[in-house]
Amino acid sequence: MDKLIITGGSCLSGEIKISGSKNSGLPILAATLLADGPMHVCNLPHLNDITTMLALLRCMGVGVTIDEKMCVEVDPSSITEYEAPYELVKTMRASILVLGPMLARYGKADVSFPGGCAIGSRPVDIHLRGLEAMGADIEVDGGYIRARAPKGLKGAHFLMDKVTVGGTENLVMAAALAEGKTILENAAREPEVVDLCECLVAMGAQIEGIGTDKLEIQGVKSLKGCTYDVMPDRIEIGTYLVAAATTRGSVKLRGARADILESVLLKLEEAGAHLSVGDDFISLDMKGNRPKAVDLRTAPYPAFPTDMQAQFTAMNAVAEGSGRVVETVFENRLIQVHELNRMGANIALEGNTAIVTGVEQLKGAPVMATDLRASASLVIAGMVATGETVVDRIYHIDRGYECIEEKLQMLGADIRRVPG
Ligand code: UD1
Repeated sequence: MDKLIITGGSCLSGEIKISGSKNSGLPILAATLLADGPMHVCNLPHLNDITTMLALLRCMGVGVTIDEKMCVEVDPSSITEYEAPYELVKTMRASILVLGPMLARYGKADVSFPGGCAIGSRPVDIHLRGLEAMGADIEVDGGYIRARAPKGLKGAHFLMDKVTVGGTENLVMAAALAEGKTILENAAREPEVVDLCECLVAMGAQIEGIGTDKLEIQGVKSLKGCTYDVMPDRIEIGTYLVAAATTRGSVKLRGARADILESVLLKLEEAGAHLSVGDDFISLDMKGNRPKAVDLRTAPYPAFPTDMQAQFTAMNAVAEGSGRVVETVFENRLIQVHELNRMGANIALEGNTAIVTGVEQLKGAPVMATDLRASASLVIAGMVATGETVVDRIYHIDRGYECIEEKLQMLGADIRRVPG
């Protein structure tokens, strides 16, 4: 297994380009299954999860061609299999996103039941109940979700009892081709849901309330292929900004959008960062100062994203003062705290709350990545620790950060990958 070796002490400075969003690229690739003709999805990041979604489409017989800029042509007309197999779903839970589109377009789908993962049990009950409300017959058999709707799906009024990003995406895609109107209440408002809806509209879907918690989808008979550029990755943007703040640096991120991460930018300002924002960039300058610890509580958009919690916990670990970090979205998402404490951090865990008291200096250590964002927090910690930090199991990080070591090297970090 590859490892990252980081020698701490560099203050990040310089300019990098932000990649396309993984979490909007995945549902948009799943949405290509709804189209009658070829779709072109552009600005995709070159990441393992995206490759897995393309492999999933290919194994169903869907035509997939990639050009050198990661612009992908997907032609669903050649589909022969209606199954997402265990081997692929076990490596990427987001494979569940093909369920709604396959069922809506072809009336059948067999998707391996996604298991739990390091950050919690992560059920898909709301996805399934929503599809059942639209008339699907669903049973679980041999570890597979077997869903059938031979006469097509029907519009329904469905209240999601918890805000779920993937659940909203699956149901909005299914509703786009259902007969009649679907109303989804308590829908997720995440920018990635908005990006998917805008792609569906470009394909001919009729959706009202985009960006709100009530989506009204008038089903149409067919959807056409189109060309769509995936939005920038707001979590990648946030991660590099926090990395710069933690190392007291100054960076400019090109291709970044400020409107999709306001809660994160507010917290960075509270930490003492000077931000400047343009149409196509965000700059951050700490003017050499140590960050101040911040309190935060994760919750669905537009509140503070759970996917940025671990990075801020790492920043708080070396900040002035102390901060309370409350995780409300996933049950087990503070696990990186133990690894940070092994590097000399002072973090106490009380249930879903981490009380982080900033220390003057972390010390390099061998550490283990447990999930995608936790890995990013360990890399950030390694960049401000004395000596060498070796981050093991970085396949997690490769699922979500395109060329992370190259981008950090461009910003002056001493980081290299060694094959394991
Ligand atoms: C997506 C993101 C992930 C992010 C998360 C929350 C992708 C590929 N991943 O994951 O990076 O951390 O949103 O912003 O976009 N839940 C249920 N029943 C369900 C579905 C979800 O109880 O049927 C629970 C989950 O266990 C979790 C919470 O709802 O506690 C939110 O999960 P959800 O928004 O669905 O996350 P994902 O779509 O899996």
